[in-house]
Amino acid sequence: MAMDRRRLLQLAGSVAGTLWLPRSAWSQVRFDADPFALGVASGSPTHDTVVLWTRLLGADAQALTAGDITVRWEMAQDAQFTQGLRSGQATAPAELAHAVHVEVPGLEPDRWYHYRFMAGDAVSPTGRTRTFAAPGTPARKLRLAYASCQHWEHGYYSAYRHMLDEHLDAVLFLGDYIYEYGGSRDAVRTVASHSVVTLDEYRARYALYKGDADLQHMHAACPWLMTWDDHEVQNDYAGLSPGSHGPVVADFAARRAAAYQAYYEHMPLRASVLTRAMAGLAQGAEMRLYGSVAHGDLATLYLLDDRQYRDPQACTKDGAPGSSTVDPATCSLWNDPRRTLLGAAQERWLADALARGSHGWNLIAQQTLFGLRDLKPGPGQRFSNDGWDGYAPARTRLTDALQRHAVANPVLLGGDVHANWVGHVKADYTRPNSATLGVEFCGTSITSHGGSNDKLDRVLAENPHFVLADRERRGYGVVELTPRQLTTTLRTVTDVIRPDSGVETLATFAVRQGRPVLERV
Ligand SMILES: [Fe+2]
Repeated sequence: MAMDRRRLLQLAGSVAGTLWLPRSAWSQVRFDADPFALGVASGSPTHDTVVLWTRLLGADAQALTAGDITVRWEMAQDAQFTQGLRSGQATAPAELAHAVHVEVPGLEPDRWYHYRFMAGDAVSPTGRTRTFAAPGTPARKLRLAYASCQHWEHGYYSAYRHMLDEHLDAVLFLGDYIYEYGGSRDAVRTVASHSVVTLDEYRARYALYKGDADLQHMHAACPWLMTWDDHEVQNDYAGLSPGSHGPVVADFAARRAAAYQAYYEHMPLRASVLTRAMAGLAQGAEMRLYGSVAHGDLATLYLLDDRQYRDPQACTKDGAPGSSTVDPATCSLWNDPRRTLLGAAQERWLADALARGSHGWNLIAQQTLFGLRDLKPGPGQRFSNDGWDGYAPARTRLTDALQRHAVANPVLLGGDVHANWVGHVKADYTRPNSATLGVEFCGTSITSHGGSNDKLDRVLAENPHFVLADRERRGYGVVELTPRQLTTTLRTVTDVIRPDSGVETLATFAVRQGRPVLERV
């Protein structure tokens, strides 16, 4: 991976305006199998641009051995590609596993588009995508799903088949898109037997996951906004500190860089995620995923990265890498204000961005459970040290920023815990009478194993800011925003190990504008 930065950006960012090409420019290559077997995707939308993605693949889901391939892309307002057709060419670089990222500029705000790719004689499936409303302009509605944790071996992606019927404007994916683990014997569907560590192994793992038809169809249905958690690299890793599962590698920074590159290659991310302080994808280099985007005057979405810049978890078992539950009374680091989950630069960016946030809704989409969660019923306390509880002073800095900047209608969205948790965001979680600042919806997994609801009532009683918890069901949440109200529906699949699973509603909550109170409807 000794690419220099300029070369990488040339490869990664095939930005193109309207451009007609002679057919010969993109039709010379011949494929043994459908090169678009991983489907298409779009993402990172703003009011005037969106990223279109595909990755060309060889037969049997193997990487192509060819050099760089030129691809044609088309985008139009109708599925027949006649109205307002835009087109151009992009490079599918061999060095980036023949991934294609096209950032189309100059689009109309608040509008749906269709897009497709062509390579050789092959034409990709057609995807749909959209732009958001221009900042400050009127916007009446936004429908989003939030999803996370899609362990291949733990079930089928029926959740995505049902998500297709939700008429969404965008999907927020909040981490654990792949799991790096090797295969296990009791899997619903299997993966290769060993943990993925190298660039080619991460690529193959993404190709396996992205071969799923339900997942592909949902990617083709609307733009996705992406962040990652730990399993895109290694369970429980923290910044440049390794995690706790699978082989110990000699150079964790190199493993992380390989995983980050494979992530970029398989996601509809704009090339600028690569730009900060990078000499190619050098070991330990940043990949900047965090950012914010507005949908008119209705909402601002903030997408955070709480994995890449964090301090290691405090007071882990025997000091080994990884997460555990901790009694804070025994942990001298627990309330150390120097520790961060977001890193100093992202914390500063977020506070500044919130200060300029929407007068409507402010959705803070991040990886994990936000609210305080004492897992020990009765006297004494035990907290997970991997989520915000393990970085409580950093959480207080964020709730302080929400108050200092009088942020309108904050909504925290999360994942990671393989369970639905719904609650109120408190100015001081240790004082139930402190101000309620907003609401939180931490979503369950698409497939990854959850837990039992036994004794959950006692945990809920211990943490009265939460109003619902459920560990037993897999699925996703749908958030509908209007100027007056937020409505969140928790959708769960009836049987995650059946490819034809149904879907049902676990609960629906409404929150009125200006009043951060969860009402069950
Ligand atoms: Fe997970």
